[in-house]
Amino acid sequence: MAESNVVDQPVGRDTKQASPFVPVHSPLEFAQSPAARLLEQPLNLGLFLPIQAGGWSASNLPRSTDWSFDYNAALVKQAEGFGFDFVFALSQWLPKGGYGGVFNGEALDSFMSLAAMTATTERIMLVATSHVLYGPWHPLHFAKFCATLDHISKGRWGVNVVTGHRAVEHEMFGWQRIEHDKRYELAAEFLDAVQQLWAQPDNFSFQPELSNWRLDGAFVTPKPRYGRPLLVNATGSTAGIDFAARYSDFIFITSPEGSDVETAIATLPAHTARVRAAAHAHGRTVRTLLNPMVICRETSAEAHAYRSAIVANAVEGNFDRFNSDAHAWRNQADRAQVARRAVGGNISMVGSPDEIIDYFRRLHAAGVDGIQVSFYDFAPDLEFFGQRVVPLLREAGLRH
Ligand SMILES: Cc1cc2nc3c(=O)[nH]c(=O)nc-3n(C[C@H](O)[C@H](O)[C@H](O)COP(=O)(O)O)c2cc1C
Repeated sequence: MAESNVVDQPVGRDTKQASPFVPVHSPLEFAQSPAARLLEQPLNLGLFLPIQAGGWSASNLPRSTDWSFDYNAALVKQAEGFGFDFVFALSQWLPKGGYGGVFNGEALDSFMSLAAMTATTERIMLVATSHVLYGPWHPLHFAKFCATLDHISKGRWGVNVVTGHRAVEHEMFGWQRIEHDKRYELAAEFLDAVQQLWAQPDNFSFQPELSNWRLDGAFVTPKPRYGRPLLVNATGSTAGIDFAARYSDFIFITSPEGSDVETAIATLPAHTARVRAAAHAHGRTVRTLLNPMVICRETSAEAHAYRSAIVANAVEGNFDRFNSDAHAWRNQADRAQVARRAVGGNISMVGSPDEIIDYFRRLHAAGVDGIQVSFYDFAPDLEFFGQRVVPLLREAGLRH
């Protein structure tokens, strides 16, 4: 056996002896990183990709929206052309039939799809969602795969770290759903290990308290170009916000009180202030992201007619089917309503380009740092948004 193969063997080492942690740096701290460009914008702009059947709309009104790789890869190029900062894709593991109806469960894997797009894009940040507790998904895999994608994308890789709120997903992996707050503790151990693998100059050993993996003289090279990939998480719970405060650069928030955009604008200032305070308590800054569906046409009347047509073609889906324990949507009594599910299931905004700009401006004033848009009919609606709304965002001083 070659000498170099022997060096990393853990034989004879006390593996319970954890190596000392070294500081880990966010890519936002490196002025030349692609991620740092996000800080130059008053309001960040992202696109929520429809890599799953139905996108976010339980409606049968004819549309082009499609989960296929080619369709989504074209959307990413389109968004890049319009100067969007990032695209984002969700991750789901649903049994046969999904939620039913248009949400039939067909979905590309988030990590794999965006990994492929690292090679087909040049400027835009790519944020994939990963369930870090589903596995075996070892921190060493995660650290190595992300470091690789960081290099292929030249620093444009990001991960939305999720812990899995649907009972059925945990069951699919072979166990009962882990208790809500414990999931964040386990995810913290996972990310501690991953971040050390990104930062440690030497082989690294780590024995976690709660998790059943460990590291023995583990090493990852090359290191990510700018400290680490961008880290994001999506939450409304105290445990989740604390997790974001410790690890994330961005946090996806929901409206604390329902999907109505006016109620959201009224209640978001206290919520975004809470997130900021939690981050400051850890000596950090975390930027907030909101994900509305945008229904925009040249005139307000046309936009409302478009919304009415989507809702008139609404279809039922059983959204309680998978027993979510997510806190983020708890106060949203209208969440299951058919009309709401037809237009995104979260906040939606309807209007002319000027009216949409006004909503963006007010959300920004409510403490929202970035807006990640989704659409009903993605390709044409994104084109309209890019042509008509994006220039107005610049005029309004929300984008450079
Ligand atoms: C914008 C957004 C995107 C999300 N994407 C995913 C996802 O792709 N996969 C997933 O399992 N959960 C996703 N979630 C759910 C969160 O991971 C989390 O389970 C949920 O917000 C509840 O967390 P909480 O109980 O800490 O509030 C998303 C949530 C939001 C707000």
